[in-house]
Amino acid sequence: MPKNTSPQKSARHVAVVMDGNGRWATARGLERLKGHVRGVDRVRETVKVAPAHGIEYLTIFAFSTENWKRSAREVLGLMALFRRFIRKESDTMMRDDVRVRFVGDRLRLDKKLRALMEDLEDRTKNNRTLNLTVALNYGGRDEITRAVRRIAQAVQSSALDPDNISEDTIADFLDTADLPDPDLIIRTSGEHRTSNFLTWQAAYAEYVFTQTAWPDFCESELVKSLEQYQNRDRRFGASEAV
Ligand code: IPE
Ligand code: IPE
Ligand code: MG
Repeated sequence: MPKNTSPQKSARHVAVVMDGNGRWATARGLERLKGHVRGVDRVRETVKVAPAHGIEYLTIFAFSTENWKRSAREVLGLMALFRRFIRKESDTMMRDDVRVRFVGDRLRLDKKLRALMEDLEDRTKNNRTLNLTVALNYGGRDEITRAVRRIAQAVQSSALDPDNISEDTIADFLDTADLPDPDLIIRTSGEHRTSNFLTWQAAYAEYVFTQTAWPDFCESELVKSLEQYQNRDRRFGASEAV
């Protein structure tokens, strides 16, 4: 019997390291970008079914601060895919009442993409059914570094007293200031690492790793991950599950 099946134990905030697109494509004799294209289909599907599974916040890792190390062809292809996704999905996000946010350093992204991101955030800002956060040019260490820089500036201008810096202060300076911490982080495609995702926020997240590549991660895979989560005891440092 699962230990925690009451509805309040379902994962409110699920974050996903959508890994394995490249290997999925290569294994089929396709170029890596084809895997990313198929991955976008899975994003669409996951966004659609997430609320029915009790998910209020869905955060997806789309491009890391380290992914610039890939070939120019792949990076440009991914950027084109992000632009196309925003243009194509904007109406769907409105129809399905999805609020979209982006986290990560936008300054390195091209102007056209940045403008599309800002428009989508603005257009969807009153939607409530699902909070979708897309991590784009995101790195946990980079996010903390940018936050520290702004905290130092606030101290320098006397807007902030160093003695008053708490964990909440730091959380407020992160890109995710408006979001709860993730309850569950899923990583697809067999790697057992975080790759710089939600470094601060994941302190007490549960991790589920699956062999399934992201382009094959359908609703039944999501359900399996959520069931694993429900069977975990979360203690947050206490001696018994809370
Ligand atoms: C994840 O899939 C998507 C991005 C990083 C953009 P990968 O492209 O990392 O796929 P693999 O890990 O090479 O198979
Ligand atoms: C993490 O996957 C980044 C995204 C899913 C966007 P990577 O494929 O880039 O991570 P590593 O290189 O395997 O650690
Ligand atoms: Mg990968």
